[in-house]
Amino acid sequence: VDESPTSIIHNDREDVVFLAPFLPLHLNHILAVCEEGKIRYFGPFTPFAWLKTVEIVTLPPYAFCCPGFIDLHHHAPQYAYAGTATDRLLTGPGGWLEEYAFPAERSLRDNPEQTRHLFQKVVQATLQRGTTSVVYFGTLDVVPCQQLVDAVLQYGQRAWVGKVCMDRNAPADYCQPTQQNLTETQQLVQYIYETAGKRSTSPRLPLVFPLITPRFIPTCTPELLSALGDYARSEDLHITTHISESIDEVQWSQALEGGAEDATILHQHGLLTRQSILAHGVWLSDTAAQLLRETQSAIAHCPLSNFFFANQSLPCRKLLEQGNLVGLGTDIAGGYNPSMLSACRCAVIASRTLDHQRQSLTNQHEQSSSASSTLLDYRHAFYMATLGGAYALNMQNHLGNFEIGKDFDAVVLTVQSNIFVCPRRDTMADIFQKLCNLADDRNVSHVFVAGKQVIGSS
Ligand code: GUN
Ligand code: FE
Repeated sequence: VDESPTSIIHNDREDVVFLAPFLPLHLNHILAVCEEGKIRYFGPFTPFAWLKTVEIVTLPPYAFCCPGFIDLHHHAPQYAYAGTATDRLLTGPGGWLEEYAFPAERSLRDNPEQTRHLFQKVVQATLQRGTTSVVYFGTLDVVPCQQLVDAVLQYGQRAWVGKVCMDRNAPADYCQPTQQNLTETQQLVQYIYETAGKRSTSPRLPLVFPLITPRFIPTCTPELLSALGDYARSEDLHITTHISESIDEVQWSQALEGGAEDATILHQHGLLTRQSILAHGVWLSDTAAQLLRETQSAIAHCPLSNFFFANQSLPCRKLLEQGNLVGLGTDIAGGYNPSMLSACRCAVIASRTLDHQRQSLTNQHEQSSSASSTLLDYRHAFYMATLGGAYALNMQNHLGNFEIGKDFDAVVLTVQSNIFVCPRRDTMADIFQKLCNLADDRNVSHVFVAGKQVIGSS
């Protein structure tokens, strides 16, 4: 909110810095972050001293400091072909998985240099768009997953990284025996603890967390699902997978598992927990949605990829109103856009397609609909991209907004020439809505993770 330069005046105590009265009066709010990257104060500006203040960042005009975006579903290796392959069904011969996803993921096995480069680009692209936390699917092979961890740590992002597990219905050269899936998963978990630290042993929140990642039911035997469920419980780990994504996937799962629903199968194997993030869920039955509520498992709503694979939009508003935990995901590369603001816009549009369906049904039956609104607006979407994502990850005490004690993960969205502001007509809410609907990476002026600036000039 302030354009003029600020001064920092040191008094005679070396560790104390007084801000006031040298800050301009119209600098009206201040957010202070301590060394561990946590928020110490957020509120009206008051002239008092901050211990060990070392750096002050003032926001340019029309800049909005927002909680960093949380992408609940991203396949890092698939970034290589994001923007292509938009003409396929998910499964089956010649389908998207067989023709694009599996070969792209497998190719990283033989190309460590290319893999390192790709994952650096993935982390840079997401950070540059204001995404501070990402739930990443890696590959079947553990070594590329370790490289993904390295890239996340190199650029200072926060991430959950999982080794993709598959022991059936995958190509012979991109499939592992059940036990190897478990062993390599444990290897990656150890690698993450060694490089990023373990949550229980550090006062700082780690940047990288382990993730149990069965790809989806068609490629995982019940034995594998059970072993992964047991391991997740024993180590209290996050879990992610795909659930009830598309008509072809649901039919395939049911054919393999005696007609049972995805949610029931995952629950039987201990994979529905408060730490579970389930991608898509477009075809969840009401009973399955209730099971997710009971287990407090979250849904990663991936509206863009649902347009391509799911043949339907997620009834997101209904799920939120029923008390399901729902956040947003880009689903690179089922969705082609790594921007969470794009995911927000897609979520709003997807909610409108459901409304069109509701209206045409109402017209057909010539009666007034008693069904409640399906509509989401930019505020619902923004919630899901931030605090909703934090709740989904069971990290609401650490991430998602600027409550004191949480980690300072933030993105500063700044008006640039791509956004027209009419100062006499636009309210602050209007300008913020314009940013939500029109901003891209040009408007991301700063990104902070755990208090550390990772994007932008100081
Ligand atoms: N289902 C199983 N694997 C995948 C994947 O890589 N992407 C998507 N969108 N769905 C999947
Ligand atoms: Fe996916």
